[in-house]
Amino acid sequence: MNIYYTQNTLKPFIKSLKSEGEKIGFVPTMGALHKGHLSLVSNAITDNDIVFVSIFVNPTQFDNATDLQKYPRTLDADVKLLKTLGNNVFVYAPSVEDIYNSDVNSEKFSFDGLEFEMEGKFRTGHFDGVGTIVKRFFEIVTPDNAYFGEKDFQQLMIVKKLVSKYKIPVNVVGCEIFRETSGLAMSSRNERLSAEARKESAFIHKTLLEAKEKFGTKSAKQVKEWVQKQFDRNSLLDLEYVEIANIKNLKTVKRKSKTETYRIFIAAFIENIRLIDNISLN
Ligand code: PAJ
Repeated sequence: MNIYYTQNTLKPFIKSLKSEGEKIGFVPTMGALHKGHLSLVSNAITDNDIVFVSIFVNPTQFDNATDLQKYPRTLDADVKLLKTLGNNVFVYAPSVEDIYNSDVNSEKFSFDGLEFEMEGKFRTGHFDGVGTIVKRFFEIVTPDNAYFGEKDFQQLMIVKKLVSKYKIPVNVVGCEIFRETSGLAMSSRNERLSAEARKESAFIHKTLLEAKEKFGTKSAKQVKEWVQKQFDRNSLLDLEYVEIANIKNLKTVKRKSKTETYRIFIAAFIENIRLIDNISLN
């Protein structure tokens, strides 16, 4: 498999692909790949001639130095996995210097308020870091289509906003959450859980599904209170937030309307590991 470590080697290759009229798909990741990531790559392979997967642990989106340091880096294993998907998949695995030179800082963005909801309240500067790296990747890779998971639904919405605000010519494709058989959303962090905690974490998805049922007859406030109660009774999982939001602006639902689309979002800690999940409500 061809791995590109620098913009300087990658750009001429992309230029030649473009001149041959090849359609380019792009899947940005931070590596430690699992089946959730691979499902994005499979979607990209279906829609495009060539697929680039970036593997880069982006320092500017971490609000916690230990988290950044502890983030798993498994390039060899990742490349091995990607090889199984096809020979039109290429990896871009840059160094921090290749992306940032010596200025490892975020650009400041306004995403029209999307950045202040949910994850934005708990992870200071996170979406400036995401915006910075995704914008840079789009400039380097110039993909036709780029694939993002609904697992990070707020990130997906923010990337769509970034593309429309900066008129970046890329089609952003949202992909369904890939789950373990227990219902737990796949995540690199699941690997750090004990067997007991991993089993218990399926509680998050189970609670989301029950909440969805309740949302048919109850208000958003009542459903959120019910979710909080379920977590209060769970001795292993600590709820950080539960939110029911309109997908247009990610703002809390005050009064339900049949013409709007809502999702429910949860962030919770187990064994000091933070897990997030969400599902659509209607
Ligand atoms: P990372 O956490 O590695 O995720 C890369 C992509 O995989 C994201 O779009 C994420 O939503 C998606 N993904 C993760 N788990 C998934 C699952 N279980 N099902 C479906 N998709 C899943 O998100 C990032 O990296 C970074 O913020 C990045 C966009 C690469 C910028 O640094």
